Amino acid sequence: MNKHWIISSVAAMAILGAASAPAFAASEDGLMDPRNQAYEQDHPDQYKSWKQTSESAEIEDALEHDPNMVIMWAGYGFAKDYNKARGHFYALDDVRQTLRTGGPTDAKSGPMPMACWSCKSPDVARIIDERGEDGYFDGKWARLGAEIANPIGCADCHDTRSENFKNGEPALALTRPYVERAFEAIGKKFEDQSRLDKQASVCAQCHVEYYFTGPTKAVKFPWDMGTQVGEMETYYDALNFKDWQHAVSKAPMLKAQHPGYETWRDGIHGKNGVVCVDCHMPKVTKEDGTVYTDHKVGNPLDRFEDTCANCHTQSKDQLQGIVSTRKAQVLNMKLTAEKQIVAAHFEAGAAWDAGATEEEMKPILMDIRHAQWRWDYAIASHGVHMHAPEVALEVLGTSVDKAADARTKLIRLLAKKGITEPVKIPDISTKEKAQAALGMNMDKMNADKKHFLETVVPEWEKEADAREAKY
Ligand code: HEC
Ligand code: HEC
Ligand code: HEC
Ligand code: HEC
Repeated sequence: MNKHWIISSVAAMAILGAASAPAFAASEDGLMDPRNQAYEQDHPDQYKSWKQTSESAEIEDALEHDPNMVIMWAGYGFAKDYNKARGHFYALDDVRQTLRTGGPTDAKSGPMPMACWSCKSPDVARIIDERGEDGYFDGKWARLGAEIANPIGCADCHDTRSENFKNGEPALALTRPYVERAFEAIGKKFEDQSRLDKQASVCAQCHVEYYFTGPTKAVKFPWDMGTQVGEMETYYDALNFKDWQHAVSKAPMLKAQHPGYETWRDGIHGKNGVVCVDCHMPKVTKEDGTVYTDHKVGNPLDRFEDTCANCHTQSKDQLQGIVSTRKAQVLNMKLTAEKQIVAAHFEAGAAWDAGATEEEMKPILMDIRHAQWRWDYAIASHGVHMHAPEVALEVLGTSVDKAADARTKLIRLLAKKGITEPVKIPDISTKEKAQAALGMNMDKMNADKKHFLETVVPEWEKEADAREAKY
């Protein structure tokens, strides 16, 4: 348990003892309350605006627009679906509904580990607090499905048990010990951070690169050597770590998660100390003159006057024009890199078929690994075209270069094996065709998911309601 939480639980218990604080949201034993609604009475403006993240409701599968990605993630969950981010309010629904988490039928069935809940719910912080990290991470994703019941909210970013919070101070907190360790690794201990830094760090609990490691498949950030693309690549290579083996090329692949914090740091706003909250959670003034932080985390351009216009004199059209040009530039380079990487995967598959040896393939597969890692780092954090377009473009350039290295070596190797014709790429012009080309049984996956949502999830919800009724 983290030190200031111990202190604050003592404070919380003191308050609970006082009859004057019935609205204080903590369970009887002073444990943290994960329910967002529990904080509505004390903080109505923050609660209401937090709840408005439910207005960002659209689900969109990025694979529909870009079936290349099905091939790039062949053999890995993201080839099943890859939904774009929507409001924090939906985090729990979405992780239950994605095909990636499969259709578990009991507490032991997979496919994913417990770690997959980590950035979805304040119940994660609660369970780590109650059972320790091993007690949380151990086992498969379905093990504690009934315990994870509330979407991203107050107790993810605040020390909700502190008196400061109750009194309307932010009391920002890192609520996962593995995040604290990551910040220590880059020399930015949370307690010593400035208020601005803390505002960015609470977002970095989830909008970052991370991987699963050790016997319990616990979350760790690969920051020990730094947070830039090459530093994390060196880190993963040194560990011989892979997220999965590619189904076509057999390359030992890395999946970038969402290194939004890392790329923002290296962008113009990050370098100037303009933090996530300045754009995504502006301070707004009410009619009575009081100021509060708007918790409707969404697209800052939708509320230009409260965000960009605080610092910029250009018009909304001007700035929006710049952002959309950069978006188009990043998208164009993204597709350029994909074309090369997809071809490299198929050419490597053909080289194996032609009898290539492990030794011949090794340097080629490393090039493919690095090319795709760089592509993913550059694009996996949505909004990178706004946060750090120059970082995205540079990293995508190095991705194309690594893919070209792989393909140059592949052409030579294929020729050596007697193959001089260009390797044929199957029809991957739609998501469905690309999935069929990989032999993926989507009907089965969809049926398993439906069964899970209709049978297991209602049981989880019943159990959670019963538990929370006792808070
Ligand atoms: C994603 C992180 C995050 C979540 C979730 C979150 N907050 Fe906040 N909250 C912040 C940040 C950042 C600030 C501003 C901190 C600062 O000004 O230094 C803030 C400020 C506050 C403040 C201080 C007063 C103010 O408006 O600036 C209160 C009270 C508060 N939040 C309550 C809540 C409540 C209640 C919930 C749940 C309904 C919630 N917060 C959910 C990040 C979050
Ligand atoms: C506990 C983990 C967590 C924390 C903390 C967190 N986020 Fe998120 N955020 C997510 C997840 C998960 C999603 C995607 C939700 C979905 O699509 O179901 C998301 C989505 C978003 C989106 C897309 C919203 C939309 O409407 O499209 C934005 C913007 C965002 N987060 C910004 C932030 C900012 C800024 C902070 C810090 C103040 C923050 N997040 C803190 C996990 C987190
Ligand atoms: C200078 C303002 C600014 C800062 C600072 C900033 N963002 Fe953004 N962010 C934006 C804008 C604007 C967009 C939407 C771009 C667009 O519409 O094309 C965005 C998009 C996003 C998205 C994608 C939303 C989606 O639905 O695709 C996420 C997630 C996000 N930001 C998180 C963060 C996090 C986390 C930080 C801090 C580490 C941060 N942002 C810092 C302005 C900012
Ligand atoms: C808290 C202040 C602040 C906010 C809010 C802010 N910016 Fe900035 N912005 C800066 C600073 C500082 C720079 C660095 C260059 C400078 O000094 O003008 C900058 C630079 C830029 C640049 C030029 C970047 C480059 O690559 O040369 C663009 C474009 C931009 N901002 C767009 C936006 C947009 C769009 C928003 C709203 C979503 C926004 N900014 C919000 C402070 C801010």
